[in-house]
Amino acid sequence: MIPTLNWTGDGVRFLDQTKLPLEETYVLAADYEQVAEAIKTMVVRGAPAIGVSAAYGIALGAKKTKAGTAEEFAPEFEKICARLASTRPTAVNLFWAIDRMKSLLAKLLGSGATLGQIQEKILAEAHAMYEEDIAACKTMGAHGAGLLPEQGGVLTHCNAGALATCGYGTALGVVRAAVERGKRIHVYADETRPFLQGARLTAWELMADGIPTTVICDNMAASLMRAGRIQAVVVGADRIAANGDTANKIGTYNVAILAHAHGIPFYVAAPWSTIDLATATGEAIPIEERPHAEVTHHAGKQLTPNGVGISNPAFDVTPAKYVTAIITERGVLRAPYRESLREMELVAG
Ligand code: MRU
Repeated sequence: MIPTLNWTGDGVRFLDQTKLPLEETYVLAADYEQVAEAIKTMVVRGAPAIGVSAAYGIALGAKKTKAGTAEEFAPEFEKICARLASTRPTAVNLFWAIDRMKSLLAKLLGSGATLGQIQEKILAEAHAMYEEDIAACKTMGAHGAGLLPEQGGVLTHCNAGALATCGYGTALGVVRAAVERGKRIHVYADETRPFLQGARLTAWELMADGIPTTVICDNMAASLMRAGRIQAVVVGADRIAANGDTANKIGTYNVAILAHAHGIPFYVAAPWSTIDLATATGEAIPIEERPHAEVTHHAGKQLTPNGVGISNPAFDVTPAKYVTAIITERGVLRAPYRESLREMELVAG
């Protein structure tokens, strides 16, 4: 399995996604500040991977604390959480992981746990999140595989694969599961300007698995759909609001509209940790604005004239009306999403 991130005992080792596909290099984050930087600079990226990385960042902060007691550690814990929470605003998995650690600490402090016990339990919780993430991806794959055609083209945008999770992937997990069942899927990967997650990362990980893949520029999807080469779209998500509106990598909304116009199903695959029932609609989802250099430059080379205006929102919101189904580890949800999401939360919660 692709080693997106792992705990080494001394820190968190990341496969450096800014260097792929040309270099397969690893970086060790030896303290929580370095984990925060790795998230911010997208050495590690993708909503579920960001959440688990933050959990390990907190475990690292706890391990390396200079505090002598649990009470002394409590304010430092808050600082660590605030730093990690400041890295990327859109993926709700980040806040989900931090909140889960906050609840754990409150429980441990309440039960009079020692600092040593707290360090141990926080690390165990991060390991649990890591394992749960892989299991969720596999279950999601099993739920979603049946939705893909026996044979044909599946378009995806960005990278919602093993590299965006602790392994297997969400959207690409669905593709993997379909291929494992003998379906003959050809993936069309949008290159995904400006960070090129599709061209660099989706292409790299699918090739490693021998899944037939063609990279297309983002502006080619409509033409391929019209030519009958795309039978389904499957993408990941960074945050799904209570009404089913879905934030994902910028350009996903374009793909959803194109799929709708061509009568092609548009599926969103995401773990339950991506569902944000506290956010009513997509309007309220914070959208990250990334450095303009990602648009003005490529591989250190300037592409645009000096001084031109630049916009670089990293995500957009696809209205729920364009989403054919949401694939989660709890099952496949259909519209109306406000009802189906709430019902699933009640049943599983
Ligand atoms: O900016 P990124 O690369 O972190 O954006 C990633 C995406 O938009 C993914 O599609 C999403 O996080 C789902 S990953 C399983």
